[in-house]
Amino acid sequence: MEVIITENTAEAGRLAADAIQDLITANPDAVIGLATGSSPQSIYDELARRVGQGIVSFARVQAFTLDEYVGLPHNHPERYRNVITRDFVTKVDIDPGNVHGPDGQASDIAAACAAYEEAITAAGGVDLQILGIGTDGHIGFNEPGSSLASRTRIKTLTKQTRSDNARFFGGDPDAVPRHCLTQGIGTIMDARHLLLLASGRGKAEAVHQLVEGPISALWPASVLQMHAHVTVIIDTAAASRLQLASYFTETYAAKPTEQRL
Ligand code: F6R
Repeated sequence: MEVIITENTAEAGRLAADAIQDLITANPDAVIGLATGSSPQSIYDELARRVGQGIVSFARVQAFTLDEYVGLPHNHPERYRNVITRDFVTKVDIDPGNVHGPDGQASDIAAACAAYEEAITAAGGVDLQILGIGTDGHIGFNEPGSSLASRTRIKTLTKQTRSDNARFFGGDPDAVPRHCLTQGIGTIMDARHLLLLASGRGKAEAVHQLVEGPISALWPASVLQMHAHVTVIIDTAAASRLQLASYFTETYAAKPTEQRL
């Protein structure tokens, strides 16, 4: 696991965008995994800037989102399909038809989840998955207690997550849906490169457990310790509980520039 501690979210966004740009330059048909929420905003803004300048193009890229609320109406602004359209799709040159997400309005949830798994497999799997992390250690919406081998399925959101996400629903936790469809932890672990961003002191404990804790369903992100290619980009506040913070900082500073993300 590589841990990079940055000064600010703009720098984190630039580093993550570098990794995505390198991937797409090497393979214009790459498959990327998208996350919603606050953490990836700096990446999407930086990628939009680079697309605008003709540095990178998503014209042939396929994208799969991590998760979706169950039951939000088609036109609800916080439906993740609409969020990703607003935050990413409309800012870059990706074909909207190449952007896929689990169907939170499906009448047959199990079939929709199985179809989503099949679609990811048919696309050749995810080359690079963008991740955020919940204050309770979730990735995707795999809440504490999730099977570390899980596949796409319905999950119940914790009170903590509904309270964290209330900011997108007028501050009312009860307005946040109770259920979601999410790629499972096993699904996420199948991606070839995992790129996780976190910022702020509120994420410090979750980041500590992710990087240094025992691998446990209590902190689902800790399973990333078992993945061969993980990059964690965090600010100093999110790194504030890391015992190994200075080691990570020194290691990254000593890396030749061309080997940095
Ligand atoms: C979103 C997702 C979640 C978020 C996490 C952090 O698609 O899968 O795991 O990444 O809840 O959210 P933010 O970035 O808003 O703090």
